[in-house]
Amino acid sequence: MNITILGIESSCDDTSAAVVEDGILLSNRIANQKVHQEYGGVVPELASRAHQQNIIPVVETALREAGKTPDQMSAIAYTRGPGLMGALLVGSSFAKGLALAIRVPIIGINHLHAHILSVFLARKNETRSFPRFPFLCLLVSGGHTQIIIMKDHLEIEIIGQTIDDAAGEAFDKCAKVMGLPYPGGPMIDKLAREGDPHAFSFGKPVIRGLDFSFSGLKTSFLYFLRDRLKDDPDFVRKNLNNLSASIQEAIIDSLTRKLIRASKETGIREIAVAGGVSANSGLREAIHRIGAHWNWSVFIPEAQYATDNAAMIAIAGYHKYLRGDFSSQDITPAARFEQL
Ligand code: KG4
Ligand code: ZN
Repeated sequence: MNITILGIESSCDDTSAAVVEDGILLSNRIANQKVHQEYGGVVPELASRAHQQNIIPVVETALREAGKTPDQMSAIAYTRGPGLMGALLVGSSFAKGLALAIRVPIIGINHLHAHILSVFLARKNETRSFPRFPFLCLLVSGGHTQIIIMKDHLEIEIIGQTIDDAAGEAFDKCAKVMGLPYPGGPMIDKLAREGDPHAFSFGKPVIRGLDFSFSGLKTSFLYFLRDRLKDDPDFVRKNLNNLSASIQEAIIDSLTRKLIRASKETGIREIAVAGGVSANSGLREAIHRIGAHWNWSVFIPEAQYATDNAAMIAIAGYHKYLRGDFSSQDITPAARFEQL
């Protein structure tokens, strides 16, 4: 019998549903929420309301595109946390209600775990190779920056993490300082393509071991701009491409240095990168270049599965299903959530 999982993601500002059957992705629908743009960041109340409006049409479309009906599902996987509580409640309540109606189990998923397992996504008739265990994963999102040893689909060990801001936050905050709209990461990525990454340099953090720090970089960028703007009020506009390329380079340099070190220390050369920032074209290029030098096997999800999506929730649900790792109907969402 087939194992068919409906995945639901609603942790932040994307409402998404996907269907995975026997490990193969059949559909993945995402409704982005435009309402936040004019506020320069995600407004939790508005996010919850938009999830309420989007969730039924998104789930219906994902099922239709997969050629499935609800009663063909084996289980419903949904994001239990971390994320915005009001946003998580919408996905979790919907998943529980539907699961009760069609009498299937629910599987609560850790959003970060799902980001990592996005490297196991494959569509029909697609030949893809997957990382072998143990592999290293650089997980870079809006809220997290970690280096993880994946020992198995369901067994992880965090060996390095940020002591302050996440890499995505560094992108977003630097973009905000330059007057770019939220989220700034994709904007910086685009502008950086026409810029010189060595045009400007900013203070490099010295952090022990495999940990990261990005708050110093943000401050250094802020002070640098403040000084230049004194002489030329038009400095940012005139240098947008070079500023974007230089700040992106500084973030990539921090990330890749520690990843190289982690690979050397652990002897692991199967390397994955996941999370929203792994959509960054400069980071992807750098990892492939460095990987070729150090003889790594590199695995990065397609950009559409790097940022928040339900395909990764469904594939994580599939692997938990195989282990019989189901959740009880009385578990609650968790804004801060560590367990897998
Ligand atoms: O994983 P994600 O979609 O949501 C979280 O779980 O946080 O990551 C969102 C983060 C944001 O900070 C966003 O600016 C960043 O990923 N991001 C990018 C790119 N696309 C998304 N950063 C740099 N370049 C990109 N192309
Ligand atoms: Zn995410």
